[in-house]
Amino acid sequence: MEIIHVSAECYPVAKAGGLGDVVGALPKYQTKLGHVAKVVMPMYRTKFLYDNDWELVHEGGAWLGGTWFKYAVIKEKTNKLGFDLYLVDVNGLLDREKIYGYDDDTERFLSFQIAVVSWLNEWGHMPDVVHVHDYHAGLIPFFMKYAYGFENLRSVTTVLTIHNAQYQGWMGWNKRHLLPAFDDWKSGMLDWADMINPLASGVKCADKVTTVSPSYMEELRFAANGLESLFEYERGKCVGILNGIDNEVWNPAKDPLLHTKYSAKTVVKGKKANKEALAAQYNLDPKKPLFVFIGRLVGEKAAEILPGSIDQSMTMHEQRLNFMMLGSGETRVEAALQSLVDKYPGNYACYIGYNEQLAHQLYAAADFLLMPSRVEPCGLNQMYALRYGTVPMVRNTGGLRDTVIDIGAPNFEGFGLVFNEATAWDLNESINRAMGWYYEKPDILQAARKKMMAIDHSWESSAGAYLNLYAQ
Ligand code: GLC
Repeated sequence: MEIIHVSAECYPVAKAGGLGDVVGALPKYQTKLGHVAKVVMPMYRTKFLYDNDWELVHEGGAWLGGTWFKYAVIKEKTNKLGFDLYLVDVNGLLDREKIYGYDDDTERFLSFQIAVVSWLNEWGHMPDVVHVHDYHAGLIPFFMKYAYGFENLRSVTTVLTIHNAQYQGWMGWNKRHLLPAFDDWKSGMLDWADMINPLASGVKCADKVTTVSPSYMEELRFAANGLESLFEYERGKCVGILNGIDNEVWNPAKDPLLHTKYSAKTVVKGKKANKEALAAQYNLDPKKPLFVFIGRLVGEKAAEILPGSIDQSMTMHEQRLNFMMLGSGETRVEAALQSLVDKYPGNYACYIGYNEQLAHQLYAAADFLLMPSRVEPCGLNQMYALRYGTVPMVRNTGGLRDTVIDIGAPNFEGFGLVFNEATAWDLNESINRAMGWYYEKPDILQAARKKMMAIDHSWESSAGAYLNLYAQ
């Protein structure tokens, strides 16, 4: 089967979050299973672009409202990622440094989607499936079915994967003229609550819709930022498929970014060495447990409860613990986390920004990973933590619910800490429990580390689930 993934992100080309990781890994594993998977994404000005060699495969033009724009499609020459990678260049719109965050993001991603469908339509060869990811590519199923000029694509199967339904890309109907001309009778397929809603349109028009965990699929019928009834109505074509992780990139036994590599056998020594190295660099105490948070500092991740919770835990446990934070996001939260550095010297560190290497080092050095997320469609960090023998402490939601079993569960099958509310109160309760396990029952905790490292969250099985879905 031949599949084309359309996405705004793909690691290592450009990544802002988990979407990039998934689109960087899934095609690789689909290819390993004997299929042809390709990725097409915007051409941003990233390091990857300048470090690699490209060939021009297509040049075309299309209308964006009254403006005729030219686009080019280039392809990476060496199959470096293990699959064909295509970048769409739209001069002046896509060729910027950042992926998102510009005033004209609507126009940028419209031009991207229009360029993709016009290229595919003109390409003499059809994929079996066009697999679009999130709202940035959400209008493509509509264009393929109902816009004029893309007749060659009418019968190609489409799949939409929702990595996060909070973001829907809505725009007013006054932007209608920016879309390619389409059958007026079909405008309902674009509309949600009197707006053009790309994510809702994708749900209506795609042949199949997936989200990145079974629990999140269930939750969307009750909490989907306004789209609840749509998910209820369309549930016949919706399915949750848990993400995998790239076991080659995330492997403590081979990870070149770590200070000391280790396996399940050597986890105790290995984590100790990594903690000592990190502690020396960031002024932490290697003899105390280390709690880390890695991720975007936004409400969805409940990041704003962290500063208060850290403060309370430091007081309550008389600084018999360390915290380290890595991430960026809301200025207010960044400032609050930064301010704790002076308050708890020797037990607290904070890195505001994005740092892939430090993330790897934190998974290796930490004892516990904090994930109080309000919304977590899948969550990859808890799976990385498991692989590195770091106990995930998660709120009972979405993909976190599907991947972490509480250590207190009957029959001793558990390995993480699960709590119910995204509040400082619940998080602190959980930290209290963690402290108990760390200081009083270290043997059980070490056994749990070995157990979690043996869990297989690799892409092999999920990649197969997508292929079954395409076959349907
Ligand atoms: C989004 C979600 C996250 C998920 C990731 C990859 O970033 O917020 O939960 O793991 O996409 O699907």
